[in-house]
Order: sequence, then structure tokens, then C-alpha cells
Amino acid sequence: MITCKSEAELERMRRAGRIVAEVLEKLCERAKPGVTTASLDAWAEQYIRRRGGVPSFKGYRGYPASVCISIDEELVHGIPGRRRLREGQIVSFDVGVIYEGYHGDATVTIGIGEISEKAKDLLRVTEEALRAGIAAARAGNRLGDVSHAIQVTAESQGYNVVREWVGHGIGKEMHEEPQIPNFGQAHRGPLLCPGMTLALEPMLTVGDYRTRVLDDMWTVVTVDGSLCAHFEHTIAVTEDGGEILTRL
Ligand code: MF3
Ligand code: CO
Repeated sequence: MITCKSEAELERMRRAGRIVAEVLEKLCERAKPGVTTASLDAWAEQYIRRRGGVPSFKGYRGYPASVCISIDEELVHGIPGRRRLREGQIVSFDVGVIYEGYHGDATVTIGIGEISEKAKDLLRVTEEALRAGIAAARAGNRLGDVSHAIQVTAESQGYNVVREWVGHGIGKEMHEEPQIPNFGQAHRGPLLCPGMTLALEPMLTVGDYRTRVLDDMWTVVTVDGSLCAHFEHTIAVTEDGGEILTRL
């Protein structure tokens, strides 16, 4: 069952989402060449806890950190460590927070210093795909309209969408129904109603859309090592599109 949140619940999700947005903004400022990914994770955990939140990823199915940091051909679930950021990389920060019992979940991918034109274009299109999905998340549309909008935005500009990892409902749990593929048919699937809260998360690749998991059991990479990007927002369905809950 897909639940619809009350206005009081949405207000709590906005508060959780605001903390997520603050962390992402500050991580982007701190992401400079030479910085270790572990130090960014440690900073984020401290920040979340000082704001009265809990980092939802930490301990989730044994995940060892508070933030997922994925670089270049790494798509999602990269584990922070001793590795240092370098000029020319593209890096995603995926952050989840629980605040007063409700979840926020969002991701951005950014370039470190100067990046290639191809990488810039990939980031632009992935963010555009997220915006298209959010615009399609309005009451009266179906879930397939959201998936379709994301897919068309990506494929019409020459990118592929990952099949094996998807977005999700969110609320009292990080993962609620429904699953939200980044590909699909318009006018299909469950009807969207005001107050449904969804984590939309397009994942685009330059090459093959298939992925595999590294021996660390977490880091997801593209099978062909091609560049990939990921953007995510937690949104609430309204009459005129998704309201972004993970914003400042
Ligand atoms: N944003 C990711 C998701 O939607 C975060 C999960 S990472 C994990 O599933 F470490 F918590 F698994
Ligand atoms: Co998510």
C-alpha cells in the first residue's frame, strides 16, 4: 500500500529534508582536491547529530558510514575511506536523515575542479531528468509518467538509465512502497495522490547501463567502467507537481 501523508507529517518531512539539504550544500563546499572521503563522512555525521537528526544509512543492513560517496564509474553506495578527492573527478554525495521519526533522502553529483565537457553534460542531463520526474509527480498522473519522463529526458540526449537500482516511497521508513524505476511507460502504474512522498533518483550512464557490486559488498559500479551520475530528491506529490522536501 502506498500511503499519503498528512500535512503534519509533511511538515516533519520538510524538517528532515532541510537537514539533508544543508549537509549536501556544505559537503559540496568542502569537496576539494586532497580531502579524504572519510573526513567528509565524519563531518556530515557530526553535523546531522548536532542538528538533532540521525544519519539513516549508518548501520542500515550493516552499511558502515553516514554518507555514500561514489566517484566517476561508481554509481551509488560508495563507502567513504582514506581515498582523497582529485581534480577532474565527478563525485556523488547521497545523504539520508531521520528527524522526529521521518526520513529525508537526497543526492547530488558535482565535479571536483575542472571536469571534461562530457562529464559536465552528463551532470546537466541527470539533474534535468530529476526535474522532469518531479514535474511529472502531480496528482492525477500515474507513477509510469514519472519513470517515463526521467527516461525520455535521459535517452533523448544520448544517455542510458540504470535498470537495477530504483527510487522508492519514503516516510517513516527510508524505503516504502512503491519502487520507482527510472524507465517505464506513461499512463501506467499506480495513480498519484496528494501527499504521497517519493524519493526520485535518476541514475544515468554514458555507456552500458548494467552495473555490478564490488567485493566490498556495497560499491555499485558500471560494468564497463563508464562515467555515471545520480541526483535525488525527496518530494511530495501535489496537484501541480512534486514539492521538493529536501531543500534549504
Ligand atoms: N539513497 C539510497 C537509497 O535510496 C541510500 C541507501 S544507502 C545505504 O537506497 F547505505 F543506506 F544502504
Ligand atoms: Co534513495
